[in-house]
Amino acid sequence: TRVMQMNKMKSLSMLARSFSVSSQSNYKVSVLGASGGIGQPMSLLLKQTPGVKELALYDIAHTPGVAADLSHIDTAAKVTGHTGPEEIGECLKGCDVVVIPAGVPRKPGMTRDDLFTTNASIVAELSKACAKYCPKAFICIISNPVNSTVPICCEIFKKSGVSDVSKVFGVSTLDIVRSNTFVAEAKGLDVSTVNVPVVGGHAGITIIPLISQCQPPVSFEQAELEALTARIQDAGTEVVKAKAGAGSATLSMAYAGARFAASALDALSGKEGVVECAFVPTDKSECGYFSTPLVLGPNGIESNLGLNKLSPYEQTLVEACMPELKGSIKKGEDFARNYN
Ligand code: NAD
Ligand code: LMR
Repeated sequence: TRVMQMNKMKSLSMLARSFSVSSQSNYKVSVLGASGGIGQPMSLLLKQTPGVKELALYDIAHTPGVAADLSHIDTAAKVTGHTGPEEIGECLKGCDVVVIPAGVPRKPGMTRDDLFTTNASIVAELSKACAKYCPKAFICIISNPVNSTVPICCEIFKKSGVSDVSKVFGVSTLDIVRSNTFVAEAKGLDVSTVNVPVVGGHAGITIIPLISQCQPPVSFEQAELEALTARIQDAGTEVVKAKAGAGSATLSMAYAGARFAASALDALSGKEGVVECAFVPTDKSECGYFSTPLVLGPNGIESNLGLNKLSPYEQTLVEACMPELKGSIKKGEDFARNYN
């Protein structure tokens, strides 16, 4: 077991740090919700990501302008713009990676679950299109509430006859990015060397940073650890409050989304040791979906590294998140079952 643990730690320390360079410019990447607060800066980052041959931008509004603007940048990716449901097929055909930030963001006082009413049907509609036009693509879901939108996508895929959902991911990368930043600040470390795995889901107490597994190892007094954990769990709300009605995190999410997409491209190109945390279906958790570090390969999840060894405090956090997480997952599954 010690050797297995060492191997896991090695994999964790390889968690992607920045947009790594995939040597081939071979892949078609699509952004659904490309005109939004996240969609625009994320598309800008993807336009500069090596490995992207075509960047297909879809939204219900403003896509021609965003596409025209980005298309003048002197990088290899060819940019196309697609507007409205009649153009989504063209956008998705031949796609290798789809990133989905479509949907409304929070305003102060709202929970992510308050977005369900609007975003559930947006994600269901887009998932149906992905199942039809690019069922083998990596589907990276940013739209909130992630704890429900990922089950919605998986159920819609199954209803559409696509049983393999090992390439459907809820993007929780921003939680890792924030944890790395806050831990580095607290300990005076070079942030580029810090990797904190974050497990569970993507809302409040379901966000569980595993600071005991941080690379390099760090230690905190219990009170400090609890304050740091709470800040990571509430970091989205911190931004929502600071933006005071103008939305939620967009720029840091654009960075995190582009980083996850770059890891998907690396995995597709056969690069070894690509590890990212993401919220995915799993039989390793009693609730059926959980975020853990994953080794990514050309076929999606190559192996699920699981939770590894938790501290007693982290164990209590995992137990505490289960009722909320199960409720959010069931809400998504029930919605998808009744969706036509
Ligand atoms: P935004 O309102 O600025 O942009 C959303 C975009 O989605 C708009 O351009 C809108 O036209 C588009 N859209 C709406 N319905 C659509 C449809 N049916 N098809 C295609 N596009 C459609 O919002 P934002 O700030 O970019 O946030 C988007 C989502 O991302 C929100 O749900 C937010 O909560 C979520 N988010 C998630 C994370 C995370 O860590 N996973 C982080 C930040 C934000
Ligand atoms: C975040 O974590 O920033 C996002 O989930 C957006 C939000 O509503 O907090």
